[in-house]
Formats: sequence, structure tokens, C-alpha cells
Amino acid sequence: MPVQSQDQVLPTPRDSITFRVMNHQPGILADVPRTARFVVAGFKPKQPPKQQKEDALAALKLLSTLELPKGAVIGLGQPLISAAKIQIEGLRPFTALRTPMIAYPSTQGALWTYFPGEDPGETLLSARNFFAALGPDFQIEEDVLAYKYAEGRDLSGYEDGTENPKDEKALAAAIVAGAGNDPSGMAGSSFVAAQRWVHDLKKMDKMSQEERDHVIGRDRVTNEELADAPVSAHVKRAAQESYTPPAFMLRRSMPWGNVKAHGLYFVAFGASLDPFEQVLRRMAGLEDGIPDALARFTAPVSGGYYWCPPMKDGRLNLRVLDL
Ligand code: HEM
Repeated sequence: MPVQSQDQVLPTPRDSITFRVMNHQPGILADVPRTARFVVAGFKPKQPPKQQKEDALAALKLLSTLELPKGAVIGLGQPLISAAKIQIEGLRPFTALRTPMIAYPSTQGALWTYFPGEDPGETLLSARNFFAALGPDFQIEEDVLAYKYAEGRDLSGYEDGTENPKDEKALAAAIVAGAGNDPSGMAGSSFVAAQRWVHDLKKMDKMSQEERDHVIGRDRVTNEELADAPVSAHVKRAAQESYTPPAFMLRRSMPWGNVKAHGLYFVAFGASLDPFEQVLRRMAGLEDGIPDALARFTAPVSGGYYWCPPMKDGRLNLRVLDL
């Protein structure tokens, strides 16, 4: 069961001075929906650059007045935060990673939006209305219709999300905790890493079933983890408990695309961006020179980091920005 936003402060765990504010954007912890639209926008006000700060602050104020569609999640990127000359602790732009074996590009946007639903027409109209309300200073840079495949599989056929933390552990992994009455205003917020990966399934088709299983490190049919998988296998590279501290994150990735071009829209929420970044660096081979075997059939074409503010009364709570 997804944990619902209750807009109240709950003590957790007992005897601890740490409190978790249950005011996160509820879509973060909800299950992967039937379909979703992911839209990334840049912030390019028409005014002269010296007025940029005022424009960015006005855009943030406007954002905080909009009622979010059910389940929608909104993330703010460094270009928008920097334009307003403010800071969010823990937010940074996504930096491209490149080695001779892999390239993880950065297409850092100012605003990341996620509109989940049952009906792709409805999610399109939700996104359209949202951006219409924001006005022309936000220009759409990436617009991806994603969908759930079977019970939550990647288009390669492998089940995705098995090792996601659940319930309280999901909350701890994805949502920023707060102390006392949360003087920072950060409690209940989250960070998200988003990357659109493009698959070359023809490359997967040419492999034997054993080779494919060794790319992922799991049996495609039973979803069992393979003890004899090579160190390059994705689940060996990404094993969350093999990091210090453990790199827990909440993945909500979904397949996207048509016959010609398709892949995975990767989404990971975290109480910080560090777990994602640690795993990505190891996947790139930056720790030990061994790149993730995923590179044998897929590569990302976009990448960005965003801060997902807490909510109050169905709207983003930007108290931390002191607007
Ligand atoms: C096209 C790209 C990707 C595909 C197809 C993919 C697919 C999968 C699959 C099939 C699993 C095993 C089942 C599960 O536990 O979910 C998995 C696990 C995982 N993936 Fe990915 N993944 C991709 C990219 C990434 C990226 C970019 C990251 C983070 C930087 C990542 C992090 C993880 C983590 C943390 C696990 C769980 C590992 C564990 O603790 O056992 N994945 N992925």
C-alpha cells in the first residue's frame, strides 16, 4: 500500500528525536501506474538577464499556487533555483559522465514533471493544463509517454523494481526526514534522478538466454538472482547493500517508446542524490574499471537531478525558499 500524505508530524521510530513529516508529494511513494507522462522544461524568460532573478522568483511563487493533479510529482532543477539566486541543500545539476565504454549525458532541466494515470489522454491534458498555467517562460525540452509493461517489466523482459525498499524503508529511502518542528523546511521533500535510456533490443536478441541473464544478473523467467553472474552484471554493480553507507533508492522507472525507438525512463527518488550517484559511478566503471553490462544493449540520452518540494493543501510548499 502506498503511504498517503497526511500533512502531519509523526514520531518515527519511537524514542528517537527524528521526526518524519508526512507531507511528501504522494505520487513519489505510489506504485508504478498504468501510464505516465514525464515532461522536462527549461526556464527561459524573455526579459533581459538582469531581471532574471525577479522572473524566477515570480515563477516559483506561481508554481506554489497551482493545485497539483492527483499523483503528479514536480521537481525543481538547479537552473531555476540558481536563476532565483537561492540554494537548496543537496541539490546540484546532473554532471555528464563519460569513459571510453559509456556516456551518460546531462540534459539538466529547470522543471521535471510526472503525471501518472490510467488514461494517456488524461495525463496529456493534465500536463498541458499545468504548463499552460505556468506560461511561456517554461519551454518543454523532453516529453515522454511511458507505460507499465506486464507486472512491471523492462522491455528486455526483466522484472524491474524487485529490490525496491518497501513501506517504512521506502519512506526512509525516498523522503527527507526532519527534526522537531523542522526549522529547515526540507522535511517531506525528496530528490529525483531521471534518465531516458534507449534500448537496442536487436543486440539483446542476438545473445543467448544465459548471456542476457548475465547482463542483468537475474533469471528472466523466475527472477531469481544468479549466484554465478559476472561482476559486470547490473544487479551486482547496483547491489544497494554493497555500498557504504547502503545506497538505497526508490526506483519508479517505466518503459517508453514505439516500434522504432524505445527503452526505459529511469526514475529514482532519494532522501539525497548521493545513493543514485554512487551507483551510477560504479555502473560507469569509475570505481574499478568494470562498466555495467547494461551498456551491451542500452544507453541514456538524457539525465537530470531535481528537488521535489514538500506539499501543503495540495500545493507545493516552498517555505524553505523564503519567497
Ligand atoms: C536501462 C537502464 C536500466 C535497466 C533496464 C535496469 C534494470 C534493472 C533490473 C531488471 C533490476 C533487477 C530487479 C530489481 O531489483 O529491480 C535492476 C536493479 C537495480 N537497478 Fe537497474 N536498471 C537500469 C538502470 C539503472 C540505473 C541508472 C540505476 C542507478 C544508478 C539502477 C539501479 C538499480 C538498483 C539500485 C537495483 C537494485 C539492486 C539490488 O540492490 O539488488 N538501475 N535494474
